[in-house]
Amino acid sequence: MAATAKNKKLRVAVLASGGGSNLQCLLDRFPPGDDSPAPAQVVLVVSDRPGAGALERAARAGVRGEVVSPSEFAAAELFGARLLELFARERIGLVVLAGYLKLVPPNVVARYSNRMINIHPALLPSFGGKGMYGSRVHEAVLSFGAKLSGPTVHFVNEHYDRGPVIAQRAVPVYFEDSAGQLAARVLEQEHELLPDVVGLIATGRVEVSGGRVRIIRD
Ligand code: GRF
Repeated sequence: MAATAKNKKLRVAVLASGGGSNLQCLLDRFPPGDDSPAPAQVVLVVSDRPGAGALERAARAGVRGEVVSPSEFAAAELFGARLLELFARERIGLVVLAGYLKLVPPNVVARYSNRMINIHPALLPSFGGKGMYGSRVHEAVLSFGAKLSGPTVHFVNEHYDRGPVIAQRAVPVYFEDSAGQLAARVLEQEHELLPDVVGLIATGRVEVSGGRVRIIRD
């Protein structure tokens, strides 16, 4: 998976349902084309929502954007087959879920085992799982009274938010916080953490061993 030569950049697809601020950070760090020295390039953006801000960001960056909605398909397997067809056509080496709200079908998870990552806005394994997305996550952190929160980037497996953790960042949680204030503090860290992890993967410094992740530092 490592990208070494200039013309062997890791080719990245980003799946996003919403505004795509994390996508933007990836586009800024890993622009399409061979001009930048970055070890990866974002070459495909897929959304389930035609109006997603993420698609506008893709268009502005000159990256191919596709709308693929699970509701168009009679079965999850067919939805997955369509995603896999797009990934194959673009020779995708890494799939990044950045605010993607649909379940990725099992055939895609299997094909992209250890090559698909997700960002979650809390410190997993707490405050994750089915239905835990958006402000619900931050509301749960606040109502539990946790004193730390922060983003987690992890490999995707067949269970919601349960694949091997690659990296986390901690931010303080204040008694006076609203869910929106906490979300903003976490998001600021997401914007650094996600591109950092993609860079580590693109340079071959992320190893999975026995269900755990080792980061190879310089
Ligand atoms: C982020 O908080 C991310 O952790 C979660 O969805 C949100 C997406 O935000 N999975 P954006 O669309 O990247 O701005």
